[in-house]
Amino acid sequence: MSRFSDDFLWGGAVAAHQFEGGYDQGGKGLSVVDVLTAGAHGTPRRITETVEEGEYYPNHEAIDFYHRYEEDISLFAEMGLKCFRTSIAWSRIFPLGDEHEPNEEGLRFYDDLFDELLANGIQPVITLSHFELPLHLAREYGGFRNRKLVDFFARFARVCFERYHSKVRYWMTFNEINNQMDTRNHLFLWTNSGVVLTEEDDPREVLFQVAHHELLASAQAVAIGKEIDPDLQIGAMVSHVPVYPYSCDPADVMAAQIASRERFFFADVQVRGHYPPYAVKEWEREGYRVGIEEGDEEILAAGTVDYLGFSYYMSTVVKADASNDATDSVDGGFANSVPNPYVKASDWGWQIDPTGLRFTLATLAERYELPLFIVENGFGMVDEIAEDGTISDAPRIDYLRAHIEAMRDAVEYDGVDLIGYTPWGIIDLVSFTTGEMKKRYGFIHVDRDNAGEGTLERRRKESFEWYRTVIASNGENL
Ligand code: BG6
Repeated sequence: MSRFSDDFLWGGAVAAHQFEGGYDQGGKGLSVVDVLTAGAHGTPRRITETVEEGEYYPNHEAIDFYHRYEEDISLFAEMGLKCFRTSIAWSRIFPLGDEHEPNEEGLRFYDDLFDELLANGIQPVITLSHFELPLHLAREYGGFRNRKLVDFFARFARVCFERYHSKVRYWMTFNEINNQMDTRNHLFLWTNSGVVLTEEDDPREVLFQVAHHELLASAQAVAIGKEIDPDLQIGAMVSHVPVYPYSCDPADVMAAQIASRERFFFADVQVRGHYPPYAVKEWEREGYRVGIEEGDEEILAAGTVDYLGFSYYMSTVVKADASNDATDSVDGGFANSVPNPYVKASDWGWQIDPTGLRFTLATLAERYELPLFIVENGFGMVDEIAEDGTISDAPRIDYLRAHIEAMRDAVEYDGVDLIGYTPWGIIDLVSFTTGEMKKRYGFIHVDRDNAGEGTLERRRKESFEWYRTVIASNGENL
């Protein structure tokens, strides 16, 4: 007997902006990622004012799923996917973001896409906002600094729930909403919330203001979705990078405890419906004005989520007395992060730690007592095509196998209620943090390179057949 439930959702995950392309097709407006240039590991992506001549924007064409979705979905069906996680590009539905009426052509695209998935026995799992905020809302309103965005998002959510509730059961409001806790990296506040910090800003105060608006928007979306269809399952989505203390020195242990709150803050509110005391204390101590209005607390309390979706790629380690320089060789960390001597890292500095996934599952299950959904996990690496055209991606298979084993232990020994597993980038797509194509996650290779050259031809990797077997055996044949 399998340790996973019979209806366990084996799937794959992507995000509209990283694979659809068609950035100006079907009436779509520009989004915050449409003005992101390509970067590389150690070279940040730049945000341009608008789409500028002479710049290369890798998300504009991405892998052209917009025109090739039938072919791609038949490959997903061949792999045996039960579900497919993607997002609805907000600016396809509301090109500017502040319109009253949605763009019918954008809505029709997702109707066709969901119908095609369902016809292939694959249920769509949908994120409402995966870094696809309409650019106009960022430029004209200051993004989620502005409370008006709560209503714009609620309108977008209502349109999506009304239109697709009979086709989509599992929803998430904001992807990796907690990335922006790291205000040192300009990419996160921009992609999560359409916010650019200025010299005058106190980054932390801005963060909490933005967070409050986004948490209200998320809570309102949950309430709207439930009113439209009480059977919908609406979740939060956070990036979880567990924080280990460097040693048993109590100072390191406390440093890890405090750093972990950066990971938990958003989910603490989305799951429990109120602000955690450690945040309230920080606001009081620092004198932050968070702009909580009358009635907001009730909205947060009424809009708690049904489940918690999360991404897991790596763990991190903090050392109480580490200097900032120590972050050079590790990613996903804090100012006082240091490399973990017990684990290896990928070529992009992401520390590979399958046990950290079991640790995460147990931690989140015990903290929140909700069903969990691993909606991203995967291994970004360079793939080589052999002379005979095959692609052997053994390191990716090793990574996934070890993580599925950890997940199996979490279900079997820790009693975690796990809904499903959608590994990231089931088909090669544009990397979020670097804008590269060469940081590949896919089980399906796409012929496209960092400069946007290539035929876009799809090709099965070794992991394709491996994952097909995993799904067919409900996680027993790894
Ligand atoms: C998560 C995001 O941060 O990780 C995805 O939700 C992203 O959008 C994924 O692609 C992997 O990150 P990267 O930078 O390797 O593409």
